[in-house]
Amino acid sequence: MAGEASRYQAEIESTIQNYPGEQRYVLAMMQDLQRKCNYLPREGLEQIARYVDTPFARVYAMATFYKAFSLTPRGQFHMKVCDGTACHIKSSAVIIDQIYNTLGIKPGETTEDGKFSLETVNCIGACAIAPVVVINDKVYSKVSSSGILDIVNTLGVNVDEYHQ
Ligand code: FES
Repeated sequence: MAGEASRYQAEIESTIQNYPGEQRYVLAMMQDLQRKCNYLPREGLEQIARYVDTPFARVYAMATFYKAFSLTPRGQFHMKVCDGTACHIKSSAVIIDQIYNTLGIKPGETTEDGKFSLETVNCIGACAIAPVVVINDKVYSKVSSSGILDIVNTLGVNVDEYHQ
């Protein structure tokens, strides 16, 4: 998409220029690009593929293989709500509902201002402290529906701004 290309072109170019045009650097390029853009814009993957002279499908397959990569835009605060069995039993669905009621986003969505995005994940191996929410790699344990609001407030965001 042309709009996407121009929006992230500087990040894409600065990423590619840091590496030789060889296939073995594709993963490192994708990691850098995701760090800069918070996700992997399609145009970025296309340019990486051209740069290392590899079919786009191959680069795309790598991007979808690794769970750490996102092909859709993520917010400044990326929230992962665990919905594995233990967390589900301890009402992870209520947390997801609370996030929707507060920020107006469902799993897979990002707030319009780009601050928050939400994703549900399977068990992250911390069932003893279920239900668990991870925001930008910080783990929050035994989160309640009111607790998630407190957490959002500690991120320096006024949740009232998001009430619809
Ligand atoms: S089910 Fe959520 S951490 Fe295991």
